[in-house]
Amino acid sequence: MVATKKYDVIDQSTGALDRSIFIDEAVYQEELEKIFGRAWLMIGHESLVPNTNDFFHTYMGEDPVILTRDNNGELHAMLNMCRHRGNRIIRADDGNAKNFMCTYHGWTFSSDGSLEHVPGEERVYFNELNKSELGLVQARVDTYAGIVFATWDHEAPTLEEYLGDARWYLDLSFNRRDGGQQALGPLKWMEPVNWKTPVDNCSDNYHVPVSHLSSILADEKVWGVPKRTAESQFNTEDRKHLFVNGHSLTIGEVSPEQPRYGHGVVEDNRHHFVKYQKDTLPEVEKRLGSKRARGLLLGNHSLFPNTVLGFRLALPRGPLMTEFWHFVLYDKDAPPEIKDALRWGLTGHNGAAGSFEQDDIDNWRSVTEASKSPIARRYNQKLVMGIGHSGPHEEYPGDVATRYISESNQRNFYNRWEEFMNAESWADIPIDPITADFDGTATMKD
Ligand code: FES
Ligand SMILES: [Fe+2]
Repeated sequence: MVATKKYDVIDQSTGALDRSIFIDEAVYQEELEKIFGRAWLMIGHESLVPNTNDFFHTYMGEDPVILTRDNNGELHAMLNMCRHRGNRIIRADDGNAKNFMCTYHGWTFSSDGSLEHVPGEERVYFNELNKSELGLVQARVDTYAGIVFATWDHEAPTLEEYLGDARWYLDLSFNRRDGGQQALGPLKWMEPVNWKTPVDNCSDNYHVPVSHLSSILADEKVWGVPKRTAESQFNTEDRKHLFVNGHSLTIGEVSPEQPRYGHGVVEDNRHHFVKYQKDTLPEVEKRLGSKRARGLLLGNHSLFPNTVLGFRLALPRGPLMTEFWHFVLYDKDAPPEIKDALRWGLTGHNGAAGSFEQDDIDNWRSVTEASKSPIARRYNQKLVMGIGHSGPHEEYPGDVATRYISESNQRNFYNRWEEFMNAESWADIPIDPITADFDGTATMKD
């Protein structure tokens, strides 16, 4: 007998989505365990902890986590919870320390998490404490292109398998240069929205010409950025909306000369970006091969479960609250004029005071708000756009929508959510095999 699945929240034939998953506390508690307790979660970047004994305080779901680089240069992601009574042992956002002393009773842990010192070990514990079993709780850690991921689940597939063919696309932004990337930030702020709404918005290009019209007009008038219209979005054949191995992505087919950036490129600095693209193309082509280096650009995307618009996080803080973390990431070896433009451009459009972000947040709040009403919950969300108009593509890995503007990725995202929520363990969660041709020299690590 086939077991009835517990969660059946999206009807793939009609796109009807049950609104209760945005407000229900029991659902949320199960998400923390079955999604945030299992998935590989993005938690930081190697450039945030460049030296031995550097630490960066981060989160896996709601759990406070210390990312450290130990004395031997190894990365650790550890629950920020003293093994004695549970006090947080680190209260700072980042720093450099060989040891972390708990401020309750003084148990002291080293930067690799081992318990080094216990006050009164001899006199009050009678030397009977097994310190080797009382180190900080460690997650599995791995990196892709300097981005640090961690999972609590020791049965999870490797990070490489988890990213799967999504990495073929992610390389377009994150793996271009031999010298790697530098992360700045994060800016942090809270919004009364459910974490899934900003995530599913990462593949929603339907809203752009409507929600962001005033920001688009300001960009056009002040910065000379070409205007995006609904017509240009609906008719496009040179952009793709696709879902691969749990992850939502959009890409553009572009000329070799086109700068590989969006926000930050304006009329006055465009020549810097054109020059940067020209100067770096041979290196990028060596790393990513001709097709990806010369012809493709990565657009909006989200890695399952909770990255938003690239190297940013939507951290769950209850069903009705999300903490956003906005980082800026750029190539370490980029010239200063490119770094300045990206720092300004990415934070000016997204981030707490970003012109686009504020438009988005208003929508996400309102969508979350609607889910609170028992009357409104009688009526499902309608993710109906483009049903039956996606599938395999001869050039691009994943489920590729026929049109750039589609709700195919959103249906796939909520399907992935069901796969995690209905699984007893990782053995029940499907992972697609890696099939992409990773042309070029770039790897997970170099
Ligand atoms: S709770 Fe940390 S030393 Fe007691
Ligand atoms: Fe938006």
